[in-house]
Amino acid sequence: MADSAVSRQWLPWRRLLHALIAQLLALLLLAGGVWFAPALIDPPYEWSVLIWIQGALAWGVTRLFGLPRWWGPIQLLLPVGLYFGANWSLSPWWALGAFALIYLFFANALTERVPLYLTNSLTRRALVDLVRPIPSVRFMDLGCGFGANVVAMSREHNVIESQGVETAPIPFAVSWARSRIQGGQVFARNLWHLDLSRYNVVYAFLSPEPMPGLWLKVVQEMPEQSVFVSNSFAVPDVAPDEVLTLSDRRQTQLFVYYPDRHRSDE
Ligand SMILES: C[S@@+](CC[C@H](N)C(=O)[O-])C[C@H]1O[C@@H](n2cnc3c(N)ncnc32)[C@H](O)[C@@H]1O
Repeated sequence: MADSAVSRQWLPWRRLLHALIAQLLALLLLAGGVWFAPALIDPPYEWSVLIWIQGALAWGVTRLFGLPRWWGPIQLLLPVGLYFGANWSLSPWWALGAFALIYLFFANALTERVPLYLTNSLTRRALVDLVRPIPSVRFMDLGCGFGANVVAMSREHNVIESQGVETAPIPFAVSWARSRIQGGQVFARNLWHLDLSRYNVVYAFLSPEPMPGLWLKVVQEMPEQSVFVSNSFAVPDVAPDEVLTLSDRRQTQLFVYYPDRHRSDE
């Protein structure tokens, strides 16, 4: 356990190092290409084209390194952005502004390694159907994004409380406003500081990163006869009690756990 905590701590640095090595390898490949290219195409070669090729190669190498998919576009746009930023003499305030905007949306990608992506409507319907037979539901969406699940659950007759927590500033502002108008409640609270004992249905769509720690919290805090549903990310080394595979494009899987059945395992 201690070992895995240490390796989780180093994971972002390892990934940054891999991303950097990918850019360097891409540069080597590009240099090799430019070396041999005159046999096929007469030089000179446009810098603005070479820089896109650099980004595309870095994307490819990044995939080979097995980094998460979302690193690909970052690897593409990093050299391209640097090149055009320098060439067009853009004010550094633009870069700062862009960073601030990204941070306001994706704050938890940096701190929790959980980016913002949203449950699709088919999955939300499956979640609602799953919960429908449960009487007196107290629902919590951990990291509720723009609040669509909280709103949908608040409209169900068997749901007496539908809540979400969110700490990224813009998603929180949107989901808070939305819940005031359309139903449910959203709080600006870190999911790790939330007491789960009042919720009998907890939903999470996060990333592989928090799942081991979240599972400990679920088993320790959720009440009897409760259910924990994780979209796409299974709890490592714990067999789910049910798996729903949906017919959307990404074949979304909902991993369903009944904490009661696992408490004696802890
Ligand atoms: C993948 S999105 C899912 C959004 C929403 N639950 C949905 O299914 O549409 C994960 C969300 O969790 C939020 N999040 C990540 N870590 C969090 C934390 N420690 N406390 C509160 N929210 C968090 C992120 O900001 C992001 O909005």
